[in-house]
Formats: sequence, structure tokens, C-alpha cells
Amino acid sequence: MTLTTEPSSSIDLFADTVLDDPYPVYEVLRRMGPAVWLERHEAWFVGRYEDVKAALSRPEIFSSDDGIALTTDANRQFLNGTVLAAHGMRHIQLRRPLSQQLTPRAMKFLMPEIRSRAARLAAEYISRGTFDAVELVTEYVADHAVNLMGLPESARPELVARAAAMFDMFGPDNARYREAAPIAAAMMTFLGTEVSRDTVRSGSWMHALYQAADAGDIAEDDVVPLMSAYTTAGMDTTIHGITAALHHLAHHHRYYKELRAGRLGAAAVFEEAIRLDAPIQGFGRRARRDTRIDGTRIRAGERVWLSFGSSGRDPRRWGSFADTFRPGRTGGDLHLALGFGPHACAGRHLALAQASSLLDALAHYGTRLEPAGDPVRARNNILHGWATLPLTITPDRRRTTPP
Ligand code: HEM
Repeated sequence: MTLTTEPSSSIDLFADTVLDDPYPVYEVLRRMGPAVWLERHEAWFVGRYEDVKAALSRPEIFSSDDGIALTTDANRQFLNGTVLAAHGMRHIQLRRPLSQQLTPRAMKFLMPEIRSRAARLAAEYISRGTFDAVELVTEYVADHAVNLMGLPESARPELVARAAAMFDMFGPDNARYREAAPIAAAMMTFLGTEVSRDTVRSGSWMHALYQAADAGDIAEDDVVPLMSAYTTAGMDTTIHGITAALHHLAHHHRYYKELRAGRLGAAAVFEEAIRLDAPIQGFGRRARRDTRIDGTRIRAGERVWLSFGSSGRDPRRWGSFADTFRPGRTGGDLHLALGFGPHACAGRHLALAQASSLLDALAHYGTRLEPAGDPVRARNNILHGWATLPLTITPDRRRTTPP
């Protein structure tokens, strides 16, 4: 009989220093093996691209049900009943009313509004000289979120201030988690009390959820958890993705010039930015039966932590320039930052539409994009991005009309 010792690590994946720069830790863990037991978090870290992708495509083995968050409390209190945590037929049933609103066809109708908002905000912020890109992108994304979801205007400050707290709840029971718990609970209460058939805009996504409940496609009790999936999934993720793209462009003037000249697509810039800096760094799954990840034995009931952030930096998939910003690289859109398999991001097309429109508008109005000071990291158990990102864009005086 051969005795094997599986690799394990005592690293705290959610310590401040790791959250600020997780990539050296990911590299160590990827080298240790396809799955490394995280002693503090009681979960297997999976960080190699092919292994993360394979696990995402096998929900019958690696289930989201009671598996997304690292604590049982968060899975039961905040994720129970959401599309993210649903499984099998129930997942199909819950995903349908949401994904119908987010097809490429649906995006076509939204594009004029998204583009015009992007042009207006780009012109306004560039005219300020130096500005905080996080402020610009938050205003832009929150506008879309409130309008498309059809939420009452009173929801805007709630979304901006509280949506990120929900992501803290997906991590371990640490100080950030405990601080976020009452904020996330208040957000659920807000959605359950302030948002109703009477307050959502007719024709909006939230309206569609009530219609689905009226038609018996989903239960009335499903509406609030589904709303929370939307408010959580679509806001800070998109904000961090777009600001990551702006951060990288500010440090690589060559690509900004190419974008401006139309030789590089804004979508490719965005995809490369989220490959390098996945806004959602990782989500969990629970093994439903004994299995193996590239040879490492995983037992039924154990948790795995699928690291989107690490998979985007894996040299086995991205080569020796895995850590380099190279928009337009071959297969650059095959990253896992938007998930993969049945739970892959339902809002992918909307995120891309928003990102492309804003990057195009900024490149249209500005000749040069530069850093204007040190950015500050936003610390969150799951999200990776900037809290502030000071930039200067030199206005192109000849371009005064929208792109
Ligand atoms: C850059 C922006 C975004 C990123 C990085 C992102 C990332 C992700 C990831 C990684 C997943 C997979 C979760 C899993 O496998 O467990 C996911 C799922 C999801 N996303 Fe996004 N997302 C973004 C934008 C959006 C937007 C704009 C919306 C909608 C308004 C949205 C709605 C959803 C929903 C509803 C799911 C759950 C799908 C399911 O479980 O079937 N996302 N997203």
C-alpha cells in the first residue's frame, strides 16, 4: 500500500496582506499541487486553470448548494434560495427569469442608453482634470443597476454602500465577515420591505420576477433571494472590473493609444483586465461524493475553494506572460473570471456592454490617460479592486460630440 500525504497549508487566504496582493500566495499554492488543504478554512484550494474549469463544469460533483460560502451560517442565511446556490432543476427554474433579461438580444435594446450615459459621464469627469475613477464607475454602474432592476431611487445609496458586504459574507468567519453581517442583513430587509410590486418600475427586471411569481414559474418566496442575487452580482463586480481596466490602461499608454485609434477593442481590454484581476477572487463548492482533482483525493462533504483569481494567473494556461497585461492575446476571453458551466455569469453581456461603452467614451474624449496618485485597495473577503483610483485624462479639444 502506498501512503500519500496531500499538500496542506496554514496560510490565511483572507489576511489583509494576502487580500492586497494575493498573487504570490496563489503561485505557491498552485506549485504545491492541484488541490491544497487550507487548514484555517477547512477547504481545498484549487487554483490551476484546468482544475477550476473542470470543477465548475461538474455541478453534480462540486455543488453550489451549501457550498458557495465558507461558513454554514452564510450559506443558510444569505445564499439559501438564490440562483447562485441552487442546484439541478431548481437552478434552471430560478435562472430563467433572470437570464431572459440579459441575453445579447436584450442588450441590443439597452445599448443606446448605456452608450449615451457613458458619453455623458466620460465628458463630465474628464472636464474635471483629475478625478477618482471609482467614483465615476460607481455612478455609472449604479445608474444602470437602479434603472434596469427598476428599483426605487431610495435603493441607490443602499446598493452603493451595502452590496459589497454580501461578498464579505462568503468568506471565513473573520472580523470583516462579522462587521458585514448586520449590513448584509439590513440589505435583505430593505429588499424585503421597501421593494415591492408597487415600488418597482413596470417592465423592469424586478417587475419580471413578480410576473414570474404571478405565473407560478417561481414561488413568491423566491423573489427577494433572487433580487439579492442581482443586487450583489451586478454592482461591485462590474465596478472593480472596469476600474481594473482603467488602472492597467493608465500604466500602459501604448494600449490606450491603440484603443483610441480603434486598433484594439474595448472588450479585449476589459477581458484582459479581469483575467489578471478577477473581481470575484473565489467561490466555494461542496463535494457531493468522493472524487479526485487531478489525482488529489477529495472526500464527500468536503469544501473546495475555486480560485478564479489564481486561474487567471496560471502559467500552465497563460504562458510565461501570465502576470502581464496584454489585451488582445489569443484566447484572452477564455478566462474564468466570469465563471464557467451552468452557473457562469448571467450578466456577462451586460458587464461587457457597460465596460466597452465607458472605455470607448473615455478614449474618445481623452488623448492621454495617466495615474494621478496612489490608488487604495478596497478590502473585501471575496472582491478584489480599488477603493479609490485617481486618474487624469487629457481632453481632446477637437472632440466635443459623443462617439
Ligand atoms: C465584471 C463583472 C462581473 C463579474 C466578474 C462576474 C462574475 C461572476 C462569476 C464568477 C459568476 C459565477 C458564480 C459561480 O460559479 O458560482 C457569476 C454568476 C452570476 N452573475 Fe456575474 N459577474 C459580473 C457581472 C454581473 C452582472 C452585471 C450581473 C447582472 C446584473 C451578474 C449576474 C450574475 C448572476 C445572476 C450569476 C449567477 C448565475 C447562476 O448561478 O446561474 N453578474 N458572475
